[in-house]
Amino acid sequence: MSRIAYVNGQYIPHNQASVHIEDRGYQFADGVYEVIPIVAGKMIDEAGHLDRLWRSMDELRIEAPMKRHPMQLVMREVLRQNGIETGLIYMQVTRGVAPRDHPFPQDADSSLVMTAKRTSMAKSMKKAEEGVAVVTVPDIRWKRCDIKSVSLLPNILAKQEAVEKGAQEAFQVDEEGQVTEGSSTNAWIVQQDGTLVTRPTNNDILAGITRAALLELLEEKGFKVSLRSFSVEELKSAREVFFTSSSSYVQPVIKVDDTIIGNGQPGSISTDLRNVFKEYMEN
Ligand code: PDD
Repeated sequence: MSRIAYVNGQYIPHNQASVHIEDRGYQFADGVYEVIPIVAGKMIDEAGHLDRLWRSMDELRIEAPMKRHPMQLVMREVLRQNGIETGLIYMQVTRGVAPRDHPFPQDADSSLVMTAKRTSMAKSMKKAEEGVAVVTVPDIRWKRCDIKSVSLLPNILAKQEAVEKGAQEAFQVDEEGQVTEGSSTNAWIVQQDGTLVTRPTNNDILAGITRAALLELLEEKGFKVSLRSFSVEELKSAREVFFTSSSSYVQPVIKVDDTIIGNGQPGSISTDLRNVFKEYMEN
């Protein structure tokens, strides 16, 4: 099945889909996005992702390109035309096309692009069973990391550093030495006493949809959770480390910089939570 993209009202073969050179997303990174996981043909936490998309648009005063319900119809059509059972849908809204000038254009219509891709649950499960390495990097981002903006330069530099060091993810660290979040994931530790720790949401991090869903599951199951920031020292001496996102679900970490976490195998709590989350997505 060939890939189809949605671009401002049209369904176009993926390899022919394009936007104007003066789209403000292209020139200014003046746009926002969402990535939604698809498991067993079903979108996971669609409402949460759409709420966050609307919040991101509102915070930047980007007008929604269409109302919520029609957008949901487009999302379904993109999935149908791409025949996705397990994968990701990517949606991006920008402030639209206008002659390059910093202030908001007076009469540009916002742009909407959607793509979808297949992913492999088997590959993802293998990575979870093996565990991955992360590196720590300084958090050099702006003060509105709560907005899911397409302006991702610090994040891609962080991820590139991880890749160059043979790691899967980079955990960003603020000026106080506290971990903020991964370059495209939320960071978690399990303390020696079994308490799960993740940073509370404010402008310093993205309010991850996976993070929120996992917090609810943890509450249901009676886990002890502490919403607080944690230092690099705590990270490296944690019983377990993992990260969450729409594309990685719950991913155990076995190494941070040069420090081996636990016995160098994915921890039992992270592994259980990974399975709990998989079940949540599949049901
Ligand atoms: N990234 N933090 C950042 C900086 C992110 O970019 C993401 C998501 C997350 C996790 O959020 P969620 O659980 O809602 O996916 C945290 C997406 C997957 C991406 O950029 O591809």
